[in-house]
Amino acid sequence: MPDSVRIAVLASGGGSNFQALVDRFRRADVRYREVVGVIASRERAGVLERARRAGVAAAIAPPAATRAEMATFLRRALDGWRSDIVVLAGYMKLVPETVVRAYWGRILNIHPALLPSFGGRGMYGARVHQAVIEAGARVTGATVHFVDEAYDRGPILCQWPVPVLAGDTPESVAARVLKVEHRILPAAVEALASGAVRLDADRRVHWVREWFETDTFTNREG
Ligand code: GAR
Repeated sequence: MPDSVRIAVLASGGGSNFQALVDRFRRADVRYREVVGVIASRERAGVLERARRAGVAAAIAPPAATRAEMATFLRRALDGWRSDIVVLAGYMKLVPETVVRAYWGRILNIHPALLPSFGGRGMYGARVHQAVIEAGARVTGATVHFVDEAYDRGPILCQWPVPVLAGDTPESVAARVLKVEHRILPAAVEALASGAVRLDADRRVHWVREWFETDTFTNREG
């Protein structure tokens, strides 16, 4: 990873995780990290307004693209921004294999549950939290993992647990989990950018040096 790391984001929704990344890497004490662009999977994604306000370049995926066209579009945008790290932050589409291969070990996804539970095709947003409540799970959480060719399946980089409380609704669980996401996603991206963690050739996540930032990973207010 170069000293100065360029981060691209793929998103489909409101973009609060995109915002958490922008805020983290624009702090006065942070140099050599930049969110250089965002790709929205649809025209109406709220993330586009956030990108406009933050002055971050944005592109919209062509709606009726074939897999091959989508792969070409993504490669052009990501390579064009000279992206070092790609982050799926609420991105609801499968990333084409050629893109996964080109950015192997440098693409991360955040998922709002403790994978490998409550993940996979069709498991996104409120559906995840609904499934957690229906299963009677007492603990859920957030997971950041390296992306491979399947939904929510790649090697796990970090996780943080969140309790499910009596009377919880998908919305209340989502809000509790989202707060944690906003902490662990920037922390995981920084770990990868700084070389503290990497993906080995055998698909194992290797923490190169002791890194666990207690403050970042705890679920405290403020
Ligand atoms: C987040 O909770 C993210 O974990 C989830 O979508 C939400 C996007 O919120 N991703 C998935 O469910 C992926 N399977 P945001 O647009 O406010 O960042």
